[in-house]
Amino acid sequence: NTKKSEKGNRQRMWEEQQLQNAMTAKNDNPDDITVEGSDKYDYVFDTDAMIDYTNDDDDLLPEEKLRYETRLAEALETEENRILTIQETRKLLPVYQYKDELLKEIKKHQVLIIMGETGSGKTTQLPQYLVDDGYTKQGEFQIAITQPRRVAATSVAARVADEMNVVLGKEVGYQIRFEDKTTPNKTILKYMTDGMLLREFLADSNLSKYSCIMIDEAHERTLATDILIGLLKEILPKRPNLKLLISSATMNAKKFSEFFNDCPIFNVPGRRYPVDIHYTLQPEANYIHAAITTIFQIHTTQALPGDILVFLTGQEEIERTKSKLEEIMFRLGSRTREMLITPIYANLPQEQQSKIFQPTPENCRKVVLATNIAETSLTIDGIKYVIDPGFVKENSYVPSTGMTQLLTVPCSRASVDQRAGRAGRVGPGKCFRIFTKWSYSHELELMPKPEITRTNLSNTVLLLLSLGVTDLLKFPLMDKPGIPTLRKSLESLYILGALNSKGAITNLGKMMCEFPCEPEFAKVLHTAATHEQCQGVLEECLTIISMLHETSSLFIGQKKEAAASVTSEVESDHMLYLEIFNQWRNSKFSRSWCQDHKVQFKTMSRIKNIRNQLFRCSEKLGLVEKNDRARGKVSNSTVYLNGRITRCFISGFPMNVVQLGPTGYHTMGKSSGGLNVNVHPSSILFANYKEKAQRPSKYVLYQQLTLTSKEFIRDCLVIPKEKWLPEMVPQVFKGLLGEKTNRGRE
Ligand code: CDP
Ligand code: MG
Repeated sequence: NTKKSEKGNRQRMWEEQQLQNAMTAKNDNPDDITVEGSDKYDYVFDTDAMIDYTNDDDDLLPEEKLRYETRLAEALETEENRILTIQETRKLLPVYQYKDELLKEIKKHQVLIIMGETGSGKTTQLPQYLVDDGYTKQGEFQIAITQPRRVAATSVAARVADEMNVVLGKEVGYQIRFEDKTTPNKTILKYMTDGMLLREFLADSNLSKYSCIMIDEAHERTLATDILIGLLKEILPKRPNLKLLISSATMNAKKFSEFFNDCPIFNVPGRRYPVDIHYTLQPEANYIHAAITTIFQIHTTQALPGDILVFLTGQEEIERTKSKLEEIMFRLGSRTREMLITPIYANLPQEQQSKIFQPTPENCRKVVLATNIAETSLTIDGIKYVIDPGFVKENSYVPSTGMTQLLTVPCSRASVDQRAGRAGRVGPGKCFRIFTKWSYSHELELMPKPEITRTNLSNTVLLLLSLGVTDLLKFPLMDKPGIPTLRKSLESLYILGALNSKGAITNLGKMMCEFPCEPEFAKVLHTAATHEQCQGVLEECLTIISMLHETSSLFIGQKKEAAASVTSEVESDHMLYLEIFNQWRNSKFSRSWCQDHKVQFKTMSRIKNIRNQLFRCSEKLGLVEKNDRARGKVSNSTVYLNGRITRCFISGFPMNVVQLGPTGYHTMGKSSGGLNVNVHPSSILFANYKEKAQRPSKYVLYQQLTLTSKEFIRDCLVIPKEKWLPEMVPQVFKGLLGEKTNRGRE
């Protein structure tokens, strides 16, 4: 029974901690951390829990390792040698031994599942083998390799370009949203996110320029991958020469094979050394604190070499941990060995990403702070210790409310086992799990839930409809989405005007598909250019939308400080973003303006690029012309323009409007009214209401909802006039507002 009460405790304790973190900017006192002699994290060593790893070619390995290291040393000598060595290291990867056999199987079958240990060379080597075997016919055909994550696509493309000794963006390139680094008629290997390949179906539903498609990391089961697999299954009979490779880590391979009519599975046996698994004796409330302590326990007691990989849930957490580690290292000074702290997460600027792959200097320990991107998509050599709090950030969609929340949840057992395996690539390793053995066997789900079962499907439904897939229930999928989710997607697409009342796609819906952003944003832009009562603000909306895509790495320090240096009075986050961009533009996009106002220059440059792309797209669709015609007639006063902008956002995000009640803000909607939400401390509204004691606006529109112990709304827009709601979206607000007032009178 005491064990039972432990269930859920971990989650609760963690949530309380998160709440504290969110409310107080810097609450953690680094002096709390005991570096040596702490017995608090005395892990239980548990032989039962040891993962049974195979290591059959044991005696060969040290020799191979020596060869590898010698070559690496040679490699640094001359450029010519470097290329040679890269070629040599390629031959050391497990997949190399199977090259001929693999190519034979690919010739024989149209679809092949390739299953192999992470780091065996699937992503980097297989596409090159296909080129060697003539699948690109001197540039006549391309090979696409999809990745669920942007960072993986870009970093792997860079690596392969290096291996092939070509310039990245020429023969080997990548394409991710808002960034196309390929050259037409030249690029033969194209690494791309799964979402980008999905979009290519719009232009050419047979994908005729490709001779091979490799769906990589298929076990991650992202929504885009699942849909891709369904679409590909349907075009296979029409394209008998197209080869489809599905590559997956060891989990799930069988399910893919069944989906493709029991197609063969090719297994690439990997090398793994044993990994000892250690658990904490008690659940830990503050896993970051526990992770930091563990890092120093390892760093101070364990010999070098031996790098550490820590799994955290996101950018904020990683950056916070990084600065704390740096602080402790600074205080320790010369009393300890060097530590190279390298973060890796999706939004990390590209120039910093490559740092994690650089060899660790001598007398130094590398500590990689990663999101679950390092679970399977990226392999970092030299990791000997893994520290795993066992959490992951996941989207969770509640169809009854139509809301998507970003939740931090315990990982599945398959995930934590995969993470542990990362410690056993170069030699025997250790994994420290910051949770109890009991938790592992009683609390964790066996497998992660496929994204399709826990996400908003509006985008996908719209895309499929525009591809002519009208019967969504018959579309081939490995896991079917819930009917309520599908129904809700259709309903919200109807509200946006993307579908007509018969469920057929409208011209506006087709237009939304053309935009490389969510249909809600496309709707905002469409309204800004064409709606009688608020047209003329397309430029402003383009700016705000572009900024909203990159807010996570926008500020150098605290957002509040940056905001104060840009403008003294601003009501909403949206208007702050607009102001930042406009002032930067007035400075002729200068670097020094960014420095003066504590804004990241690199991020701003990316935003400018996103804005250009969205602008060109609006131009192509005729929106710019309509907007410009209207602009001449509208006033240029800020209040007037802000009103128009706000209305445009209401038209795109009616479901994201919250209302002020006696207990704070709550969501609206017939079925969802009443979920309490809190303005996140990072929002300008938070400071305005809490610190400047301004009166909270009755209605607020949010862009993001995250859940820890409380629901937080981020990036908020004040709606000053209630009547704008039914004016812009009568289908949603006409009945609703009436209903609320009635209830208020009772
Ligand atoms: O796809 P899979 O997990 O089977 O392996 P991979 O990603 O092709 O990695 C093969 C090798 O390339 C690993 O030893 C990686 O460390 C190395 N690699 C690298 O050095 N730099 C990259 N950007 C990607 C991979
Ligand atoms: Mg891979």
